[in-house]
Amino acid sequence: MLVTGSVPLVGNFVRESLDLHLFFARIMREHAIFMQAGFYPKDVTYVQQAEQFKCQYDELLKEAIMLSDCTASVDVLNSRELVTDKTLRAEQKTQELTGIFIDMVLTTEELKLIPDLGTIPPGIETQVSGLNQKAMVLTTSFAEFKAMVLDQVTQCCLATNLFPSQLEHVYREALFYLKILKRLQNNQFVDARVDLLEQEVFWDEIMGEHAEFVAHFLDPSEKKLCQKARDLARRFEKLEQKMKGEGIPASGFGQLTQKNLSATLAVAEFKARGTELILDCQLKSLLSPLLIDHTLREANYYLRILQTWKPGYLGRG
Ligand SMILES: [Fe+2]
Ligand SMILES: [Fe+2]
Repeated sequence: MLVTGSVPLVGNFVRESLDLHLFFARIMREHAIFMQAGFYPKDVTYVQQAEQFKCQYDELLKEAIMLSDCTASVDVLNSRELVTDKTLRAEQKTQELTGIFIDMVLTTEELKLIPDLGTIPPGIETQVSGLNQKAMVLTTSFAEFKAMVLDQVTQCCLATNLFPSQLEHVYREALFYLKILKRLQNNQFVDARVDLLEQEVFWDEIMGEHAEFVAHFLDPSEKKLCQKARDLARRFEKLEQKMKGEGIPASGFGQLTQKNLSATLAVAEFKARGTELILDCQLKSLLSPLLIDHTLREANYYLRILQTWKPGYLGRG
């Protein structure tokens, strides 16, 4: 518990920053785990670099959890975007299968977080700003690492068991994290409507790609699930094209948001079922339990944005 006294909440800076790290620092550490597991034995230097990124994100997440007790949003804690009811089991199984150490204490700590009580501890804003700065430096360097690996793979100088489009996908997620962090650090206010549009365009593409990846990682004998994954991918592709269309009228925008919501609910349900099947050893695939639970949390993050959106301004205030 961090409460040593309290001051009135001056803005969203502290809460928005910490909510962001609780989600994205975990996402980044898992990207490092997937990359580490994806390299071949000869590329030991890359394995070590991925391991270092994992450890650095462990530290970042640890600090975010420590600062977040009594400051995290109720909506975020309830959204299952940080930890699902399957995350711990997925971590245990993935650690057992890959031999890569996963710090599960951070997961149990995150499950114990107490939501915002309407006040923030004094002095926390400086600590949060420092944490944001650290996250920006680390994520810039991790994005560069992802881009370098992608470049090597594209030039056929390096082999991994991740698709090039998956490397590009995790690279774009790092850039998205950086974009929001820069806004928070630079006191940039963003109209909530603009933010929602950006989020929808970004996450529609991400959700569609998840469905494509799942379809490719499933064993060819899993025909029904492969088909279901492809159908979901097509659904998001169409939605993404509409979102990127010129001059959506306000009424049309609302309708598209509703369609995104129902498609994301469908993909989240599909991923949740897939995670359970993998954990029960009932699904033939190349998917790790942590990978599919990871994509489920990304869907839950998007769902929370779609479900709790309110007009106004985001950013430091
Ligand atoms: Fe991801
Ligand atoms: Fe993703």
